[in-house]
Amino acid sequence: MNKVKKDYWHYSDLVYQEAEIKANRFNFTFTGALIILDILIFVLSLLGVFTAPLALVIPACIIAASLFISPLLVWLIFDKFVKYKYSLLQWKECKYLIYVPVYFALLIVDIMLSQHAVLLIVIPPLMAAQYRFIRRDWWLIFITTVVTIPIIIYGSFLFGLADYNLLKTVNLEEADSIAERFNLFNAKRAVDLFLHHCLPRIFAIIAIDFLMASIVQRNVNMLKKQVELNNEVNDQIEKQNRLQTAVIEELASVIETRDLGTGEHVRRTKLYVALICERLAEEDKYKDILTPETINKIVTAAPMHDIGKIAVSDTILLKPGKLTDEEFNQMKVHSVKGGEMVKNFFKNFDDHDFYEEAYAIATYHHEKWDGSGYPDGLKEEEIPLAARIMAIADVFDALVSKRVYKEPIPAEEAFDVIVKEAGHHFDPEMINIIKTIKDEFINASK
Ligand SMILES: [Fe+2]
Repeated sequence: MNKVKKDYWHYSDLVYQEAEIKANRFNFTFTGALIILDILIFVLSLLGVFTAPLALVIPACIIAASLFISPLLVWLIFDKFVKYKYSLLQWKECKYLIYVPVYFALLIVDIMLSQHAVLLIVIPPLMAAQYRFIRRDWWLIFITTVVTIPIIIYGSFLFGLADYNLLKTVNLEEADSIAERFNLFNAKRAVDLFLHHCLPRIFAIIAIDFLMASIVQRNVNMLKKQVELNNEVNDQIEKQNRLQTAVIEELASVIETRDLGTGEHVRRTKLYVALICERLAEEDKYKDILTPETINKIVTAAPMHDIGKIAVSDTILLKPGKLTDEEFNQMKVHSVKGGEMVKNFFKNFDDHDFYEEAYAIATYHHEKWDGSGYPDGLKEEEIPLAARIMAIADVFDALVSKRVYKEPIPAEEAFDVIVKEAGHHFDPEMINIIKTIKDEFINASK
């Protein structure tokens, strides 16, 4: 049961995971839109609206597009072909997979198209702001954006893509050939470029980096608050559930002591129900139905299966011999009565699913697969799943227990009786699956 509870209450990670997935999706879409914008610029260059040389623009766009597609390819390979256990979008390092290639893709296009890349260089911190970036990630963002500025400025200048404003810091006539431009790299002009073009942009980027870092910090604080609130609510729910479970078990034990039980039947049937549920949940047919939450509800409700026995008289309950037909009819009433009691207890309860499982267990745990059970003579899958599971647990424990009217039989023999009843008393498919946990059943009966 520990495993079920652990999965069930593990909300904090889910909140953070959801935030990462949202950030990944946003950045995928955002960068996709930017690449489309770059392609538009390329088309405008083709039409002669821009003056960037096509010999540079075409390879730049191809490299940029390839880099942009790379995270998408990895995602396709992992999720679609390899069928990776978790979607790559849920993987928290996915941010680097999106962030790094897209950053370089944009950088290449911007160097080729224009040296006015400052606006586009704010994109990395903007992307980063979507995530919960830790301190050393911020150093990476800070250094890459600041270092990129001189690369773009000197790069644009070297490749002759600088506009008039940049070139006028040097002699325009000298800037005709690359060789001459290299020659222009004397200390004075390098410093000129740095002071007039790099430094203002670096200051702008530092300001943007700090602004984005504070946005990330605010996001992280909000997430932390959300997690704290979630944990508080979960603590309250867990306390309520513990109280509810304790009340249910105590009530069931009180009823059990009437027919000289010790509360052990309640404890053991709960254990068998958990074993059956967890085994069934491994099968494709049941994995979506028997989620950890549903299993928790069924297992919690299991002790209430005989709650209706409170309405059966002691003379019938404690009769050492076989019941007469009349007495047996009175005994059968415990199922309907149990259902009514569950309804009265839980009908106004917030957790409607729990009420439904508990009602099904109390009312239908004596129905049989072939339709010969009671109270309604339901057959096959008309019988609710929880009640079909409960029936196996209840009969198995009755067989291995001493009752006023019978002696116990060994657990191994009891399990064989259950298996023989497949298709008559019990769901044959279910019996076929739980055959594999015979040893666990026998251990649990000790
Ligand atoms: Fe019963």
